Amino acid sequence: MRISLYRLLSISLLGRFLQANACITDEDCDLNGVCTGGVCHCDTGWLGADCGKLDLRPGPIQNGYNLNKIGTSSWCNSIVKDPLRNDRYHLFVSEFTHRCGLDYWAPFSRIIRAEATNPVGPYEFKQEIVPSFAHNPSVVWNEAEQQYVLYSIGCRTEVPTTCKSLSYSCGPGNTLNGESGISVWTSPDLRDWTAHGQVIQGANDGSWDADVTNPAPLHVPSGSSASTRDVVLAYRGCPYNCSGEELINMASAGDPTSFYKRLHPQKPIFQEPSEDPFIWTDKRGNYHMLVHSLLPDGGFGDGPNVGRHAFARSWNGKWTFNNATVAFNTTVHFTDGPSVDYYRRERPNIFFSDDGIMRPLFLSTGVQEVNSTKSYSLIQPIGHGK
Ligand SMILES: *[C@@H]1O[C@H](CO)[C@@H](O)[C@H](O)[C@H]1NC(C)=O
Ligand SMILES: *[C@@H]1O[C@H](CO)[C@@H](O)[C@H](O)[C@H]1NC(C)=O
Ligand SMILES: *[C@@H]1O[C@H](CO)[C@@H](O)[C@H](O)[C@H]1NC(C)=O
Ligand SMILES: *[C@@H]1O[C@H](CO)[C@@H](O)[C@H](O)[C@H]1NC(C)=O
Repeated sequence: MRISLYRLLSISLLGRFLQANACITDEDCDLNGVCTGGVCHCDTGWLGADCGKLDLRPGPIQNGYNLNKIGTSSWCNSIVKDPLRNDRYHLFVSEFTHRCGLDYWAPFSRIIRAEATNPVGPYEFKQEIVPSFAHNPSVVWNEAEQQYVLYSIGCRTEVPTTCKSLSYSCGPGNTLNGESGISVWTSPDLRDWTAHGQVIQGANDGSWDADVTNPAPLHVPSGSSASTRDVVLAYRGCPYNCSGEELINMASAGDPTSFYKRLHPQKPIFQEPSEDPFIWTDKRGNYHMLVHSLLPDGGFGDGPNVGRHAFARSWNGKWTFNNATVAFNTTVHFTDGPSVDYYRRERPNIFFSDDGIMRPLFLSTGVQEVNSTKSYSLIQPIGHGK
C-alpha cells in the first residue's frame, strides 16, 4: 500500500507536495501510529512521516555493559526488570572470554548476567549463565509456565587460551562455527537456569535456511489466532555454512521448550536481506520487528543505515519491510560527551514500559567503534513523549 500510494503521488505535482505526510491506511504509518486526516500520528517513541524512525535520545556515555578498558568485549544484550525490586535490572549479555575481540565471538562468547539500578546501566557483572560457546541471549517471561525463558545459540566447546577461530559445529547447518541451532533454558528467578536443549535446528542440505540462528522470541502473542500458550520465534536463516543470503522467518511451538515448527519452510517472511531480528506486539495487537539490515547501505560496516523496521497485523503475516525510512543508524549522541559514528551497530533489542502501553523506552545494540577490534553493549534512551 505504501509503495503504490507513493508511486501514485510522486507522478503529480500535488503528490510531491503531499508526499511527506500522506497516508491512507495505518500500514502507511508502519502500524506504529494511526492515519487520520491523511497524516500519520505516531505512537510515543516513533517519528517521521511514516512513523518508521525510532525517537532516539542522547543518553549517558556510561551505559550498557562496556568492559573495553580492561580489554573485554561483549555484544548482544537483553534487559529484564527484576520481578521483586524496582531498583534492579538484569542484563543478559554475550561476553567474550580471554579478552578476545568481535572477530572471535565464535567460539569465545559466553552468556553472563549483569545488574544495574536503572535500565540504561552501566551494568556490573554478576554471574556466568552459559559457558562458551553461547551467544545471542534473549530472555522473556512466560506467563503460562510462570518461568523466564532464555533463548540462545551455541554448545559447550573447549576454547583455546589465545584468540583464534575454530572450525566446529553445534548441530546441522554449519560446520564452520557453532552458530546454527537454537537452545532454550528456563528459570524461576533469572539466576538458576535449567537446560532444555535445542528446540530448532538447521539442516545439512540446500535449503535457504539450512543455517538457523539469532532467536527472537515472543510469548503470549495477543490478537492472533495462536492460543495463549503458543510461543512465536523469529530467526535468521541462511544456506548451509551461511554461504548465501541471510533472511528472516518465523517459527512457533505449543510451549517454549518443545520443538518449533517453521512458518514458511520454503521462503522467508520478506525478501530484504537481514539478520538479528527482534519482535514485539504493540498496544493494538500489531506485530513489529527491528532487524539488522544487510541492504547495501547497512551491513557489517558497509553503511550507516543498519536498523530497519518491519510490521504485520498478525505474526504469520503478511510482513512489510520498510525500505524507505531507516529506524536507527550508526550515529549515537550522548548527554555528556561527543557523538560517535560507530563502525558496526547490530543486535537491536527494545526494553518496553510494563504498563500495558508497550512504550519503547531503551534501545540496546552491540557496537564496534571505527578502527577498534573490541565491541560492547550500548543502551540508548528512546523519547518518552512530552
Ligand atoms: C562447510 O564448512 C566446512 C568447514 O570449513 C567444510 O568442510 C564444508 O565443506 C563446508 N560445506 C559447504 C557446503 O560449504
Ligand atoms: C522497496 O521495496 C519494494 C517492494 O519490494 C521495491 O519494489 C522497491 O524497489 C524497494 N525500494 C528500494 C529503495 O529498495
Ligand atoms: C544518522 O541519521 C541522522 C538523522 O537521523 C543523521 O543526522 C546522521 O548524519 C546519520 N548518520 C550517518 C553516519 O549517516
Ligand atoms: C581509523 O584509522 C585510519 C587509518 O589509520 C585513520 O586515518 C582514521 O582517522 C581512523 N579513524 C578513527 C575514527 O579513528
